[in-house]
Amino acid sequence: MRLDEKVVIVTGGAMGIGRAIANDFHDEQAFVVVADQAGAEDAAAELSRSNRPALGITCDVSQKEDTEAMARAVLDEFGRIDVLVNNAGIYSSLEPKPFEELEIEEWRSLFDVNVIGAFLACKAVAPAMKSQGGGRIINISSGTPFKGVPFMLHYVASKGAINAMTKALAKELGGAGILVNGVAPGFTLSDGVRANPVQLEKLQEISLQARVLARDQVPDDIVGAVTFLASEDAAFMTGQTLVVDGGAYFH
Ligand SMILES: NC(=O)c1ccc[n+]([C@@H]2O[C@H](COP(=O)([O-])OP(=O)(O)OC[C@H]3O[C@@H](n4cnc5c(N)ncnc54)[C@H](O)[C@@H]3O)[C@@H](O)[C@H]2O)c1
Repeated sequence: MRLDEKVVIVTGGAMGIGRAIANDFHDEQAFVVVADQAGAEDAAAELSRSNRPALGITCDVSQKEDTEAMARAVLDEFGRIDVLVNNAGIYSSLEPKPFEELEIEEWRSLFDVNVIGAFLACKAVAPAMKSQGGGRIINISSGTPFKGVPFMLHYVASKGAINAMTKALAKELGGAGILVNGVAPGFTLSDGVRANPVQLEKLQEISLQARVLARDQVPDDIVGAVTFLASEDAAFMTGQTLVVDGGAYFH
């Protein structure tokens, strides 16, 4: 009951890590909003089969109109926004390659979602959180900028930007009672990753070997840290990014 009746938005919540977070929030008695460019309504319908409603919103976080419409729809339905999880991101479709082979369009389209998408979602929910006297923003980062993982430079840079945004936004919004933190997973067998044989071949075994806890990481490994940051247990914590990767990187 740690999130009893809190209104929580999970972007990219229809599958993968976001879906696991949405499920855990629902189990903690929150009203869950799944905001995703695909599959949001189905994911919400599945959650709504229990006696607590969930809302699915089709939303491309890289589009300002979509994020604004998302915030309006949540306020119309539930009257408040307590937690935003910026999870939507381009990762699982990527194939590692040298930076010289990356095109400018690949950088732009990835940054549009991973960085500008998080910015737009924060901007859309901040007015409601401010008028309520507080809220929580949790950014899903990655272990890659901490470790300097090679061969996906645009992605690593985007998550480095997310880490910086977590700190700077924590300072901008702390006075309004809005706490901004991050969670940085290691290589995780999400739905998207499981569907990408190149990533599995190149990254699964090497990631496992690099961990103190030498097994595959799965989406459920991440939800505990996210739910903690959304809960009262983390009420005096902001600007932090927790690395959750089985002990591959000590932060
Ligand atoms: N899987 C990993 O190894 C790993 C590791 C560290 C961090 N992450 C991060 O975790 C997050 C989720 O990754 P995943 O592996 O679960 O991905 P996934 O591909 O399994 O799921 C991503 C979800 O985000 C949605 N999405 C993508 N672009 C969107 C957009 N523009 N607007 C709204 N929704 C959008 C997709 O529809 C999908 O439902 C990403 O931010 C990713 O960078 C993943």
